[in-house]
Amino acid sequence: FFFSPAEFVKSATDFSMIPENTMIPEVAFVGRSNIGKSSLINGLVNRNGLVKTSSKPGHTRMMNFFKLGDKLSLVDMPGYGWRSRDEWGGMIISYLQNRKNLRRIYILVDPSHGLKESDTQIMKLLDSSGLSYQVVLTKMDRLSKTKYSTAKAEIEAELVKGAICCFPLVLGVSSKTKDGLDELRAAIVKAGQL
Ligand code: GTP
Ligand code: MG
Repeated sequence: FFFSPAEFVKSATDFSMIPENTMIPEVAFVGRSNIGKSSLINGLVNRNGLVKTSSKPGHTRMMNFFKLGDKLSLVDMPGYGWRSRDEWGGMIISYLQNRKNLRRIYILVDPSHGLKESDTQIMKLLDSSGLSYQVVLTKMDRLSKTKYSTAKAEIEAELVKGAICCFPLVLGVSSKTKDGLDELRAAIVKAGQL
C-alpha cells in the first residue's frame, strides 16, 4: 500500500523555502497547536518518529513536507496558536492560496473542544479562495462513543451553517488506537484522485 514508505523532503520557515510546485497531489494538515497534526501524519504513513511530536504545544515551527514516492505529498504545519497571526499569515496563507497541486486541506479539530474562532477563520479564508477542506476530529480515544457522537453532531451542525468548500463528511481519528486512519487514507486518495 503506497502510504508507506514515506520520506521527509524539506522544512520551510518562509514562503521562498517551499519546495517547487510539482504535479504531485498534495494535502496539508492545519489546526491549533497540540491538536495532533504531526501524530496523525505518523499514523497515516505508519511510521512513528517520521514527524516529531510533543505534549508541549507549539512544537512544529516550520512547514514540513513529506512524500510517498511520487504519488502524494503531505504537509505538516505549525499550529495556529504558535506563530503570531501575521507570521502564520505570511507563510501559510500565501502557501494555501498559491499552491497549485494542493488538493485538500485537512482541518484538525478536537471534538472535546469543538470549533474555535481560529478554525472558522481559516475556513472562511479557504471558502473565499475556493479551496477544498475537510474536518477531521482527533484524539477520538479520549471520548466515550456517546460523547464523541454528540460532539460530532454539534460540529456538523455548525459547518452546515456556512462552510462552503467543506467536504461534507466529518471524519474521526485516533493516532493512538489507529481508529479512523483507513477512512482518512481513503478520503486522501480520493481528494488526490490517485
Ligand atoms: P504542534 O506541532 O504543537 O502544533 O502540535 P501537533 O498538532 O503537531 O500535535 P502532536 O502530534 O505533536 O500531538 C500533541 C500531543 O497530543 C502529543 O502529546 C500526542 O501524543 C498527543 N496525541 C496526538 N494524537 C493523539 C491521539 O489520537 N490520542 C491521544 N490520546 N493523544 C494524542
Ligand atoms: Mg506538530
